Formats: sequence, structure tokens, C-alpha cells
Amino acid sequence: SRSLNLAVIPGDGIGREVVAQGLKVLSAVLPQDVKLETREYDLGAKRWHRTGETLPEAELDSLRRHDAILLGAIGDPSVPAGVLERGLLLKLRFAFDHYVNLRPSKLFPNTATPLAGRPEIDFVVVREGTEGPYTGNGGSLRTGTPAEVATEVSVNTAYGVERVVRDAFARADARPRKKLTLVHKNNVLVHAGHMWKRIFDRVAEEYPAVTTDYLHVDAATIFFVTQPERFDVIVTDNLFGDILTDLAAAVTGGIGLAASGNINPTGEFPSMFEPVHGSAPDIAGTGKADPTATVLSVALLLRHLGHEAEAVRVEEAVAADLADRGEPGSDAGASAAAGPRTTDGIGDALAARVAG
Ligand code: NAD
Ligand code: IPM
Ligand code: MN
Repeated sequence: SRSLNLAVIPGDGIGREVVAQGLKVLSAVLPQDVKLETREYDLGAKRWHRTGETLPEAELDSLRRHDAILLGAIGDPSVPAGVLERGLLLKLRFAFDHYVNLRPSKLFPNTATPLAGRPEIDFVVVREGTEGPYTGNGGSLRTGTPAEVATEVSVNTAYGVERVVRDAFARADARPRKKLTLVHKNNVLVHAGHMWKRIFDRVAEEYPAVTTDYLHVDAATIFFVTQPERFDVIVTDNLFGDILTDLAAAVTGGIGLAASGNINPTGEFPSMFEPVHGSAPDIAGTGKADPTATVLSVALLLRHLGHEAEAVRVEEAVAADLADRGEPGSDAGASAAAGPRTTDGIGDALAARVAG
């Protein structure tokens, strides 16, 4: 019989609440002959306060041995900003070489969006996951003085750019519309921007069926709102991809619906699946968090591990649940406002749908 050996990092804030719902749906959808084994890792703010640790080597070694990782969210107002985000979340993405940060966006029916009634929106952002301004290169001189100097250096390697661009071309080539848009800012960031564009244009020659486009990131934000249907696959740098995918979530149904996969395409390391959103301290503990983004991340996890039929069942359950939600804005996904159902209630409804 088959097995799925899953590492679970609930993390902080609503991360713990939404991960419980993701696991509920995962257990309900898996076929009988797939043995689900989960191990929960106590990482995040509580652990840091207790021991000062973010991600000890022993746990990193242990995490490596799982088939995949499901993560809730990391970050807490009681911990200095960056300590957990860099020391835990980014450490995992870098250590497990998650160079493809996959963030799909679909316009769901019945959700609160300024784009309701628009043509079909269905695009995916392939966000570079291991380089750019996220590497931690830089520093501060004369910290805290009026003469302070701070730098954050964006690191872009030909190797790192080419592999993520290749992944994006392959994804575009496999989709019906076969369109790939590079988003950068090569009118200002001339060193990294021109390298990205050169590599993009060179790889494009190997994919004659793929239509290509280039947008500066500022213009891309316009089209995310005014013409989102023009996008199919987007490939972009780590920081641009971070910002664009929160915007994409907001215009296609809300941050409570946006899923992501931190993929290591070579399979050398486990891939990690998590909602795009954070720990939402403003609603943690209230039952208002929408777990749908985590449930859709579970669908990405299932697809990645070859359980395509189960991934589709989860996505169909979410679509049906959203269609049943009634008036836009009446449920938790719409905003941080209270809806008629709780986090747990939405998780139960989705688990029931995939099981039945
Ligand atoms: P956030 O995504 O946590 O919250 C932004 C807004 O969206 C808040 O109003 C929140 O209530 C709302 N929201 C988020 N998820 C929701 C959901 N599932 N249902 C309903 N509403 C939801 O972003 P933030 O406030 O900038 O960050 C809070 C903390 O989370 C910070 O420590 C940050 O570093 C961290 N963070 C972590 C991740 C991650 O773990 N991948 C991602 C983003 C932010
Ligand atoms: C995300 C988050 C992270 C990022 C932070 C918390 C490090 O915003 O997953 O989108 O910037 O990648
Ligand atoms: Mn983000």
C-alpha cells in the first residue's frame, strides 16, 4: 500500500487554525490504501520565546525526510520582525531549494472582488524563490545614527534565473493559452533586469509555441486590476512576485483563497505548501480566518505527489463551497469581517464535500 509521510508546521496565529482544516480535508480525500503519516513540528513564536531557537539543524534534517511539508504561517508581533520570517520560513525555502514559488490565481464565483463579472481569470505566477533581495545580502553601517547607511543587495545568478525561467516556459507550453509574461523593472534595475530579459529571450527560442510578453512591474499592477485576463503564466523575481501575488489574491476573491507551493522541481528536497497569507494577528483566535487558501494548498500538494484525482476533488469541493456561499462578502474569505461560518465550519463543509 502507498503512504504519504507529511511534515506539518502550523506556525503562528491563524496558521495553526487553518492547518487543522487543511489536514481535515486531506484525511477525508485520501484513498483508503494511502497511509497518511503526519509529524507536527513545534516551530514559530512560542518555540522561539521558550528556547531562542528558530529552526535547529536536527529538525531541518528531520524535515528533509518527509514527502512534503504543509505550513500554516510564520510571524508574530511579539517577535522582532524578520527573526522568524528569515530564520524559519526563508531558511526552509533556501535549504530545500524551493526555486519555484507557484502561486495560481483564479476568479472564483461569489467572492468579494472588484472584478466580479469579468471574463475568466486564470493565471499562475511563477515567483523565483531562492534569490533576489531575499538572500540577506547587505548590511547597516552606523546603525541607529543620523548617518546610518543600509543596503539590501538583490542577488541574481544566471543559473538561478535560467532554471526558474525554464520552469515557467514548460508550464506555459503545457497550458491551452501558452502565454508567458516576464515581469521585471529593467528600465531601472538594468543589471538584473537585462540579465532576466536576455535569459528569457534565449529560452523563448526553444518554445516557439509560447507567446511571450514583457511588462515593467509597475505597469503589471495596472493590468492585474484592469485587464487580468491578459495573463496566463507570469515569471518574476522573488520580491516582485511576493507583492504581485497579494494583489492577485485581492482581485480574484480575497487573500483567504490564495494557495501556494514552494516547489523543488528536482525532487531532491521536499516541497512545501502554504497559503499566500500570513499569521493575521488581527484575527487570530477569533475563528474568522478562511481556511480555503490552505485547503487549496493541500490540492497543490496532492497534485505534486501524483494524486491528481484527489487534487481535482479538493478544487471542485472549494468551487462548489464558494458557489454556495451566497452573496459576495457574506463569508470569512471576503475580508477579515466575521462571516456566518467559522474557520472550523468551512473546514468541516469542505471535508464533507470531498468525502461524499
Ligand atoms: P497577513 O496576510 O497575515 O494579513 C493581512 C490581512 O489579511 C489582515 O487583515 C488579515 O486579517 C487578512 N487575512 C489574512 N489571511 C486571512 C484569512 N485566511 N482569512 C481572512 N482574512 C485573512 O499579512 P501581515 O499582516 O502583513 O503579516 C502578519 C504576519 O504574518 C507578519 O509577521 C508577517 O511577516 C507574516 N507573514 C507570513 C507569511 C507566511 O508565513 N508565508 C506570509 C505573509 C506574512
Ligand atoms: C509570503 C510572505 C513571505 C515572503 C515573508 C513572510 C517572508 O510574505 O510567503 O508571501 O515575503 O515571501
Ligand atoms: Mn507575501
